[in-house]
Amino acid sequence: MAIYRQSLRAILGLVTLSSLLTMGPLGVNAASTPEPTLPYRDASLSVDERIDDLLQRMTLEEKAGQMFHSQLNMGPNGTLDQGIPGARNSSEFMLGTQLLTHFNLVGEILDARQTAEFVNRVQQHILDTTRLGIPLTLSTDPRHAFTENIGTGFRAGRFSQWPETLGLAALRDAKLVRRFGEVARAEYRAVGIRAALHPQVDLSTEPRWARISGTFGEDAELTAEMLSAYILGLQGDRFGPDSVTTVTKHFPGGGPMENGEDSHFVYGKNQTYPGNNLEYHLIPFKAAIAVGARQMMPYYSRPIGLAGYDPVGFGFNKGIVTDLLREELGFDGIVVTDWGLITDTTILGQDMPARAWGVEHLTELQRAAMIIEAGCDQFGGETRPELIVQLVKEGTVAESRLDVSIRRLLREKFMLGLFDNPFVDAEAADAIVGRQEFVDEGAAAQRRAYTLLTNRDDVLPLGNEAAQKAKFYIEGFNATYLERRGLAVVKTPQEADYALLRLEAPFEPRPGGFESRYHAGSLEYSAAERARQAAIYAAVPTVVDMTMDRPAAVPEVAEQAAALLANFGSGPEAFLDVVLGVAGPEGKLPFDMPRSMEAVENAMEDVPFDTKDPVFKFGHGLRYKAEA
Ligand SMILES: *[C@@H]1O[C@H](CO)[C@@H](O)[C@H](O)[C@H]1NC(C)=O
Ligand SMILES: *[C@@H]1O[C@H](CO)[C@@H](O)[C@H](O)[C@H]1NC(C)=O
Ligand SMILES: *[C@@H]1O[C@H](CO)[C@@H](O)[C@H](O)[C@H]1NC(C)=O
Ligand SMILES: *[C@@H]1O[C@H](CO)[C@@H](O)[C@H](O)[C@H]1NC(C)=O
Repeated sequence: MAIYRQSLRAILGLVTLSSLLTMGPLGVNAASTPEPTLPYRDASLSVDERIDDLLQRMTLEEKAGQMFHSQLNMGPNGTLDQGIPGARNSSEFMLGTQLLTHFNLVGEILDARQTAEFVNRVQQHILDTTRLGIPLTLSTDPRHAFTENIGTGFRAGRFSQWPETLGLAALRDAKLVRRFGEVARAEYRAVGIRAALHPQVDLSTEPRWARISGTFGEDAELTAEMLSAYILGLQGDRFGPDSVTTVTKHFPGGGPMENGEDSHFVYGKNQTYPGNNLEYHLIPFKAAIAVGARQMMPYYSRPIGLAGYDPVGFGFNKGIVTDLLREELGFDGIVVTDWGLITDTTILGQDMPARAWGVEHLTELQRAAMIIEAGCDQFGGETRPELIVQLVKEGTVAESRLDVSIRRLLREKFMLGLFDNPFVDAEAADAIVGRQEFVDEGAAAQRRAYTLLTNRDDVLPLGNEAAQKAKFYIEGFNATYLERRGLAVVKTPQEADYALLRLEAPFEPRPGGFESRYHAGSLEYSAAERARQAAIYAAVPTVVDMTMDRPAAVPEVAEQAAALLANFGSGPEAFLDVVLGVAGPEGKLPFDMPRSMEAVENAMEDVPFDTKDPVFKFGHGLRYKAEA
């Protein structure tokens, strides 16, 4: 505790020696905190009593602020971001004027201590400058793998690095998934992140969709089993002050995208059910609710041709959020919309219209009203509390309706213990984030999740002795990795004994700063790329390591390469360990690998395992014959 106080003092730089003596058990300068005797601050009262007390103290503006969940940027060296003075996105404006307390943290974290210090600074700022001192809840998209996309997740940085969720699914090992959740929880909590904007439990029944790598694949039962372990890992058996809360997404399953396009974008707004198979996509959500999922996020898409449901985005869709999720499935937790349903914006230099699919004609105010009417509690990626204030003042939305949502949102903060101690131990953060044990477990999972699709004449594993005598032609990583192991690299396939190719699964590059991050379109390589690869396969026995962020339609690689490995997020060292037999592949495909784009186009978006004559079936995965 003494160390904790000192670290806080060093961090905050505003605690004087005399005030150190008066600091309460939270290590907070008592003079600057709201009246500690107020019932909502009294940890001996029940959560319900504390909510009742706080709610009746809140102004309309304070309530409206709780209903927004947007991005908070860190300033230089973990300071509060000053932003452009007066700008709507400056921290001062969002925290002090708009009274927002829910934010997601974006960008790779490279300095755990600094991030923890930043979070402590924000918490102190809230205590110092707001009337009620409602603590910050910080959330994040996944940040334990390889994806780097401001719209979907961040590279691991200082955190332990694991395969994408698809790789966890490839291992079909619920205990490992639970362990992953526990490690993620420890690393998140160390820097003050208390809400995971995951798991993503959409089913990859449409193999072209750009967001498959963050799912558990195509099978509803496997997904249900994996996500249950995942949620328990993050939340713990009992939800409370040691938990990270989870947002299960994207209700009611974002997989069945029309033509496989993504509904971040205008051309991808439709979701379709030609196989009348909505029920299948609900299986994971039922499992999530059964295991105690706290929050849900509807997807951007709008259902087309789904009997009984309006063709409007799921966040606007009362039939989906209230009738189906709340009433039929019995979910009483928080519903937070996906990011940016109301306001047009710019992401990475690209104009992004509000994802108000099916209600493009409505005003911002009408959109906000419709989202509340649908049954959502919180607006993701928006900072428009003035709209809510206006809706209540003009009588469109009853304040008692807001209270229903505010109660849910406050309950989460009380249960997470944020009112009782909003601070983290910044000095401990560096020792927890990226702890060697966690890093080793992630690295082992990267190796185990490798899925061996072909292995002609048992070319793999090479074994170190054979490898030491061989010459390698490589693509997709650099010579340093081999030279460190004493292996020889040559410049052409013709000079080599083996080629090692690390390839991205096929996709069609899209324009735009933001859109280009989404791998969409054809699952086949172009004719030129196929010819380029064929020349290598003809010249030398080739081991292909394909990063499967989506399924690939690559029968020619399966036929021509000496061995084909699928990875679901792995580094070059993991690949070489698998090639050399230091580690063995244990993965099984979490989806079918289709034969062609024609087969994909002829299959139904919402139906699993229905492409004609897939090259490899769900569950395929070879093992090495003997120990290397
Ligand atoms: C951040 O910290 C570094 C190292 O202490 C210092 O050199 C730099 O000036 C600081 N930057 C800002 C903007 O405070
Ligand atoms: C705030 O918004 C402005 C204008 O859109 C933008 O240039 C700036 O980068 C934003 N600042 C942060 C911290 O996101
Ligand atoms: C979506 O579905 C509607 C209704 O069937 C159709 O008019 C529209 O062209 C489809 N595609 C997009 C991108 O809106
Ligand atoms: C190979 O890649 C690693 C990691 O990115 C880098 O540190 C190293 O300098 C690279 N080596 C060469 C020869 O480019």
